[in-house]
Amino acid sequence: MSETARLILDGQEIELPVITGSENEKALDISKLRATTGYITIDPGFKNTGSTLSAITYLDGENGILRYRGYAIEELAENASFLEVSYLLVYGELPNTEELAYFSESITNHTLLHENMKRFFEAFPQNAHPMGMLSSMISSLSTFYPESQEQNRSVTDIEKTIHRIIAKLPTLAAQAYKHNKGLPTMYPDNSLSYEGNFLHMMFGLPTTEYTVNPIVEKALNKLLILHADHEQNCSTATVRVVGSSQANLYSSISAGIAALWGPLHGGANQAVIEMLEQIKQDGGGLEKWIAKAKDKNDSFRLMGFGHRVYKNFDPRATIIKQAADEVLEALGVNDPILDIAKELEKVALHDEYFIERGLYPNVDFYSGIIYRALGIPTEMFTVMFALGRLPGWIGQWKEMVEHSAPIGRPRQVYTGSTSRPYVALTER
Ligand code: CMC
Repeated sequence: MSETARLILDGQEIELPVITGSENEKALDISKLRATTGYITIDPGFKNTGSTLSAITYLDGENGILRYRGYAIEELAENASFLEVSYLLVYGELPNTEELAYFSESITNHTLLHENMKRFFEAFPQNAHPMGMLSSMISSLSTFYPESQEQNRSVTDIEKTIHRIIAKLPTLAAQAYKHNKGLPTMYPDNSLSYEGNFLHMMFGLPTTEYTVNPIVEKALNKLLILHADHEQNCSTATVRVVGSSQANLYSSISAGIAALWGPLHGGANQAVIEMLEQIKQDGGGLEKWIAKAKDKNDSFRLMGFGHRVYKNFDPRATIIKQAADEVLEALGVNDPILDIAKELEKVALHDEYFIERGLYPNVDFYSGIIYRALGIPTEMFTVMFALGRLPGWIGQWKEMVEHSAPIGRPRQVYTGSTSRPYVALTER
């Protein structure tokens, strides 16, 4: 007999089915709760709420485990290419040689943008934030490919949309950067890898030959893999909810980019560097900043610290911290910010406030330091996160569509006025 939990409500006993995941995680199935009892549950921030069953990413926050489709993040980051991981997240298995060749070629063939999109970029203010541009530009792709909004599309047609978006995001990201800098844009170079092509479009100029530095290319590959999926985080949940209304994939991803932008989510990588810079300018003393982070009357938080699900350590942060040392050494970069970050980590990890609350460095604490060393400007950091997260968003969207998920529509408990008569304007 399957396991159930018993709930006593208004003297009535209700059995709630218990769901057990493949890693033995337990959940109470309350999907029939309101229909049978009239009650709903309240869970601000969805801290205890599972919104879906998913076979994509397994995350054990207590033990710092992260796996994509069963593969440990450590192994993937060390051995795989970002496109292999993208294939894994989207299609469920690692590709064989032929599958990867087909996938890479298809993506390479979709890297160009419609020429009219250049005019959209021209209209943005010079200092427009690249995340704002990226979200708008991805959304505008739905106007160039309106068939993406049609329902009941064939698997091949949906696949074309998926490949297009993976192909075009780096092109759009690089153009956003060029726009801010006032530099000429570069067309994609189909002879390069996914990461190499992005670097070429970012840093290449029509006047000189640009050679991709293999150290930079490898570091970028690793960072993108580490960001590729993280189960039902804020932006992924957004992509799923928007997609559940049957909005097209471009619009759903555009919404995900907007959600990622916030400093409590992907925007933290930019906020971390800004914070470290501020500490450096302030003389480098850490006590004041630790005290500010602990002060409940001060809105300052230690950016890059803490996570909704990791309460012990973030395995991505462990890999990135080591990679930061390696990359900076290989590139011969000496960044004083890295020393401040390490010192800050040490102080915080020995402080009762942070220990009690399980606050550890997250993925964003050290990633910005690597991006800086690679020559990527601070306001582009969250764009880099978006490039990495894209296959996760797509895999989650695809799973949601394949499961015919119902439209995402939470309920509420109303706490406003009860019924009252309208009062004419002159009498108010
Ligand atoms: N600095 C100081 N105090 C903190 C911090 C921090 N970075 N993070 C959490 N706390 C405190 C918080 O004030 C609360 O204290 P108390 O129990 O006394 O009220 C307690 O720790 C629990 O925090 P919470 O806000 O209830 O936890 P949450 O799960 O809702 O929030 C978080 C998670 C990531 C939004 C939060 O830790 C935070 O704001 N961190 C800084 C921003 C950041 O680095 N975000 C990137 C997350 S990793 C990238 C991604 O996947 O998005």
